Amino acid sequence: MPDRVTLTDSRSGKVIELPLLHGTHGPPVFDMGRLYRELGYFTYDPGFLSTASCHSAVTFIDGEEGVLLYRGYPIEQLAEHSSFYEVAYLLMNEALPTQAQLDNFTTLISQHTMINESLKNFYRGFNHDAHPMAIMVGVVGSLSAFYHDSTDIHNPAHREIAALRMIAKMPTIAAASYKHSIGEPFVYPRNSYSYAGNLLHMMFSVPSEEYELDPVAEKALDLIFVLHADHEQNASTSTVRLAGSSGANPFACIASGIAALWGPAHGGANEAVLRMLEEIGDVSNIPTYIARAKDKDDGFRLMGFGHRIYKNYDPRARIIRNMCHEVLSELGNENDPLFELALRLEEVALNDDYFVSRKLYPNVDFYSGLIYRALGIPINMYTVMFAIARTVGWAAHWKEMIGEPQQRIGRPRQLYDGPAHRDYVAIEKRS
Ligand code: CMC
Repeated sequence: MPDRVTLTDSRSGKVIELPLLHGTHGPPVFDMGRLYRELGYFTYDPGFLSTASCHSAVTFIDGEEGVLLYRGYPIEQLAEHSSFYEVAYLLMNEALPTQAQLDNFTTLISQHTMINESLKNFYRGFNHDAHPMAIMVGVVGSLSAFYHDSTDIHNPAHREIAALRMIAKMPTIAAASYKHSIGEPFVYPRNSYSYAGNLLHMMFSVPSEEYELDPVAEKALDLIFVLHADHEQNASTSTVRLAGSSGANPFACIASGIAALWGPAHGGANEAVLRMLEEIGDVSNIPTYIARAKDKDDGFRLMGFGHRIYKNYDPRARIIRNMCHEVLSELGNENDPLFELALRLEEVALNDDYFVSRKLYPNVDFYSGLIYRALGIPINMYTVMFAIARTVGWAAHWKEMIGEPQQRIGRPRQLYDGPAHRDYVAIEKRS
């Protein structure tokens, strides 16, 4: 098979050959870079349904087969055998670490968990009822004001330390957002804890009492972080890449990723699922909500169902579904009425032709909120949990992109359908 695609422009009769590029997995792509220069056309693909925005060696998804690989390793194997620290190392460094490399990486991260004391002043500017994601966007963006003199993005050592700082500080910033919202003092990180354990400690301990870390909660959170660590070129990762492509400060780029993640079609879905379950309230109301989800005149969607890429099953959902049962029974929450409601809703939707024919299966966020709820994490922190884990993916993609010698600013084109050229009319002559 020739490694090119022949494109014939039936309007002009011109023929051009476009190179066909093959990745390790996935469909080949043809390189359209010369299309405009040679034929005078742009391509049009709103929502990027058929467009590869970059090449990347971080994560692979096969949506038809329900496959997710981090640096080639199946998510199921990582979920069973690995830890968040190890997965973070893998995503950032291309290979699984040796014990010495993992110890060194863990130490490096733990050396950067504290935030500058003056950063705390930013929190005071937020009302106590500010959404923690709003605080995250602001405070993470403001980190760019602290390390600007050591963040030369063209220096690989600076890129590395910026990425480590982002990963290390995210739980501290997130926990402080929560403490601010409930009026409790901020808790300093304790570096002897695991990444997830440290977050739980900073969220739930108070200076007046001893804190006992629950190993079930720590293990569950670590696994959720592994499952959420990266997901190739999703909306927030693409946002980080696009912001980063201009040479912007990395902390500002991560803040832009947090903003993109917040929406209910993306990371905000875990919060939306719980709010939806609370609204449905009772199993007897399920048919009404299923009917609303199917009604095109009703904006309601079944949150936690469907995925742009997975048209078989979200492999993360399978793993987290099993964990959900385990965690709820270990923490004594198995009789949570919302859990029963969720299972019933899942069953009804999976047997409904509307959802079956559109391949709308429960995604990872259908279950993650139920686990967060069992761990005592408040609903408005759910998307923050996602942001903490995904920071590793954002950092890995940002590093990969900036490290490319041929890296250029991302600058999409458009199909302009506004008014045609027209001349200015003096105000007194306008009707
Ligand atoms: N409930 C009801 N109908 C739906 C849903 C849903 N959750 N999702 C998609 N559909 C329908 C949609 O109306 C359309 O129907 P038709 O073909 O008759 O017009 C069809 O299914 C295809 O939908 P789409 O909007 O073209 O699909 P998309 O790929 O653009 O959107 C999605 C993917 C995830 C945004 C969407 O499925 C959705 O809004 N789901 C609910 C939000 C959610 O759970 N998001 C979390 C995604 S997983 C976490 C992450 O990776 O960020």
